[in-house]
Amino acid sequence: MAIALKRPDEIAGIDAAGRLAADVLDELVRRCAVGVCGLDLDAIARELIVERGGTPTFLGYRGYPQSICVSVNDVIVHGIPTSVAFDDGDLVSVDVGVTLDGWVADTARTTIVGAESGRDAELISVAERALDAGLAACVVGGSVGDIGAAIEAEVSGSGATVFPTLIGHGVGFRLHEDPQVPNVGTVGAGARLEAGTVMAVEPMISWGAPHVRLASDGWSVFALDGAQAAHAEVTVAVTDEGPQVLTPWGDRWPARRPHVGDPAR
Ligand code: MF3
Ligand code: CO
Ligand code: CO
Repeated sequence: MAIALKRPDEIAGIDAAGRLAADVLDELVRRCAVGVCGLDLDAIARELIVERGGTPTFLGYRGYPQSICVSVNDVIVHGIPTSVAFDDGDLVSVDVGVTLDGWVADTARTTIVGAESGRDAELISVAERALDAGLAACVVGGSVGDIGAAIEAEVSGSGATVFPTLIGHGVGFRLHEDPQVPNVGTVGAGARLEAGTVMAVEPMISWGAPHVRLASDGWSVFALDGAQAAHAEVTVAVTDEGPQVLTPWGDRWPARRPHVGDPAR
């Protein structure tokens, strides 16, 4: 299937959905604390998204039962929020999808609850550096293989492991579109990137082995060896001016412009 390119006005729509998703994600990460559970975050997310006119994209997607994904410790992605309270030191990845005026954005980040283990904190920073490396390859004339190669090099250079079977994707009109966006690859291979290509770039990593197992709930993807896993994801548009991050969470993208409708912060 072909990549469905987005016009600038369409990217603006995804940008609005993405800002909402990023704001919600940041708020959920602030709320992560000992005693809080995934279902608490899910309820907060639903409320914040709906309050600003959006809908939680994941709810009902292929039968997914909740509004966000909360992946704790050795769950890599697609963890279904539960009523189990977070514990001191839990490594928690939160993934938020927002649909706003028909436009879809998808974004995730990982945090540590309470007391940090240095090893987990370093894993998060490797995941974020890998995301940055992948984003730098999101340029006109590049290829999806360049993104995978950049992520793979950053992760393996840090001594961590990428899960090669877990990949990013086109996004914007729908949650999962072409192209597939690999987290490993060969420079120059695969689909070409043109202005208007919008993707979710999302490295998923651990310090362990690259093998995964699907839980009996049909969603949660675990690291087979039980290693702690981190995930960092943004929705990005390839433009003639370079990569444009549409889900600017945290303070990692200082070029973020003020946006009408942003909550006071
Ligand atoms: N956000 C996930 C991704 O990054 C997909 C979640 S789909 C759901 O691709 F149904 F599990 F929510
Ligand atoms: Co996601
Ligand atoms: Co995604």
